[in-house]
Amino acid sequence: MAESIQTQNCPATKVLRFAQDVLTANGVPFENAETIAKCLVAADLRGIDTHGVNRIPSYMERIRQGVLDPKAEPTVSQVTPVVAQVDGHNAFGFLAASQGMEKAIEMAQVFGIGMVSVKHSNHFGMSAWIVQKAIDADMMSLVFTNSSPALPVWGGKSKLLGVSPIACGAPGKTRPFILDMAPSVAARGKIYKAKRRGERIPLDWALDKDGAPTDDPAAALEGVMLPMGGPKGSGLALMMDVFSGVLSGSAFAGEVTGPYDPSKQANVGHFLVAIKPDLFFSLEEFKDRMEYLYQRVVTSEKRQDFDRIYFPGEIEQINQERREAEGIPYTQSEVDALNKEADSVGVAHLTA
Ligand SMILES: NC(=O)c1ccc[n+]([C@@H]2O[C@H](COP(=O)([O-])OP(=O)(O)OC[C@H]3O[C@@H](n4cnc5c(N)ncnc54)[C@H](O)[C@@H]3O)[C@@H](O)[C@H]2O)c1
Repeated sequence: MAESIQTQNCPATKVLRFAQDVLTANGVPFENAETIAKCLVAADLRGIDTHGVNRIPSYMERIRQGVLDPKAEPTVSQVTPVVAQVDGHNAFGFLAASQGMEKAIEMAQVFGIGMVSVKHSNHFGMSAWIVQKAIDADMMSLVFTNSSPALPVWGGKSKLLGVSPIACGAPGKTRPFILDMAPSVAARGKIYKAKRRGERIPLDWALDKDGAPTDDPAAALEGVMLPMGGPKGSGLALMMDVFSGVLSGSAFAGEVTGPYDPSKQANVGHFLVAIKPDLFFSLEEFKDRMEYLYQRVVTSEKRQDFDRIYFPGEIEQINQERREAEGIPYTQSEVDALNKEADSVGVAHLTA
């Protein structure tokens, strides 16, 4: 068991400014830096610490190695009235996915549905920020991506599939519905975080390189992650690759390069769909029906040892409300790693 880790709380506004400064100092145009910084801080606010500003050093290393283009601008082309394609041109995945979902929403507003395939992109962090973008426009959404190999196929021993999150959402009343989940027992970012913080991991998350269960995050990173639900998790990871990789023209079948590997371009693919929820009755009625579902879920009879039942995305929303008020907790080693990046480009440190 890990000893309790000291953290310091930084206000989200300071973190946002810091992230934007580091990004612009590394060649990202100001407006794009703002978009990327907002996505990273959104992850930290929701408690998805694995996909927030702690990713900055690895992203900057990719820029330094010339495998991620800080100045690239994704382009959008219309394919049919309800289908568009985004070419990320090796820009940040946050930019390609942001433009992609904006385009999907625009088409859905007119035609009821908008589908966007994204190629030549990069890691876009936490999928929920894209789902939230759709919810902010009163849209339902599907958000798929593929990612670098980390999981074996069911029955396999070596890495082939990504820990590629499947995400979807719908607007509601008390809370929106936001399901955002990796098809592994745990997201690989949680193993990186445990390694960063000197913590052990549960034995059912991963196997070491010899195929044995391990609680050592470093050994797990040399081995394979385990899919959730055996062949079902492996099947969902394959689904992400079919829709995001095979369909888009991006890399697939284990050929996406990971965000921590600065040796080559990533060539990630995404698949984004926006759906207008008021196609069959009014938006108000849709939201009333979502509220009915929400209340049925959260007031379900509780199992022993459960204090409360949550709707998907609700825990993260509660985290966000708390962190917006109290600041985002970072460990000293995390702050040091970020400030090392700041020093390398001469921008102000992140402080509490
Ligand atoms: N871009 C990438 O390549 C990549 C890869 C892997 C993971 N990720 C991101 O990592 C993040 C974490 O993924 P994860 O699978 O570890 O998430 P998780 O296991 O923490 O949560 C998965 C889902 O279950 C819901 N949930 C969790 N606990 C719940 C409870 N007690 N009651 C009801 N619902 C509950 C959450 O709201 C969420 O929708 C995601 O944001 C994902 O997008 C990104």
